[in-house]
Amino acid sequence: MTSFHSGECSFSLTGNLASFSGFGLSRPLRVMAIGDTHISLDDERGVPFRENSRRMAGFSPDAATWFLKTLEKAGKEKYDLILIAGDLVSFPSEAGIEFAVRALNDTGIPWLYTAGNHDWHYEGLPGTETALREEWTRRRLLPLYQGHEPLAYSVSRNGLEILMIDNSTNEILPEQLAFFREKAASGASLLLVMHVPVYVPGRDIFFSCGNPDWRAENDPYWQIERRPRWPENGHSETTMTFWRELFSLKRPPVILAGHTHQFSLDSFRGVIQLVTPRNSAGEYLELRFS
Ligand SMILES: [Fe+2]
Repeated sequence: MTSFHSGECSFSLTGNLASFSGFGLSRPLRVMAIGDTHISLDDERGVPFRENSRRMAGFSPDAATWFLKTLEKAGKEKYDLILIAGDLVSFPSEAGIEFAVRALNDTGIPWLYTAGNHDWHYEGLPGTETALREEWTRRRLLPLYQGHEPLAYSVSRNGLEILMIDNSTNEILPEQLAFFREKAASGASLLLVMHVPVYVPGRDIFFSCGNPDWRAENDPYWQIERRPRWPENGHSETTMTFWRELFSLKRPPVILAGHTHQFSLDSFRGVIQLVTPRNSAGEYLELRFS
């Protein structure tokens, strides 16, 4: 359907199956992509934060069941890898995170995780988003990273370089940009997994990484979500530099995101961006690389 990578690679989409060929992998790779499960399990350890978790706790009561059903399918069909594109939980309760880690480990399939904006967010707590993410990642989310550096890490599979970059504040930090540059310079085929979709011309404010309209006056949910409002002047220079470089690579990457809860596909300057539909209703994407 759409060709990229100097015209030798191809991309096709059938239902929820996205196939990429011509990547020069040593062996084909079959990936289950899961985003926005929004597990809201909690127990007595979450009581001190009930006031901060209440709104999101009611969002997806069947999420845990759907998650198990999805993982059962992954096991039965013997996927090579599971990628979690953020908002695995609706707030960082120990119960939710323990449940998710156990369920993922029980599949026997390797899995990689990056955070979404809800994973580390107890609504109404004071602090900047960067500080809250730092605090709650350290306090709760570390088991999901399995020893990797939470803000940015990468794993190579069959010759595909998979970059897990946490852009769940909608922004890219200088150290994440440096990491991305280093990986991009290697010339490898890149799959970038980030919770928030990157802006592509024509997209709305929910494609909110590198979006020229992302700023305080266009922030629809800061009061509902009880978090700091987006900055008056929009994105940092680092985020915009990341955006420009992402769309200027000789070997355009594939991007996997979540956040909007709706399956979508973008093609811009050779970059393909797939957004996973919400796993809180049992949906997922299958990605095949060869
Ligand atoms: Fe999200």
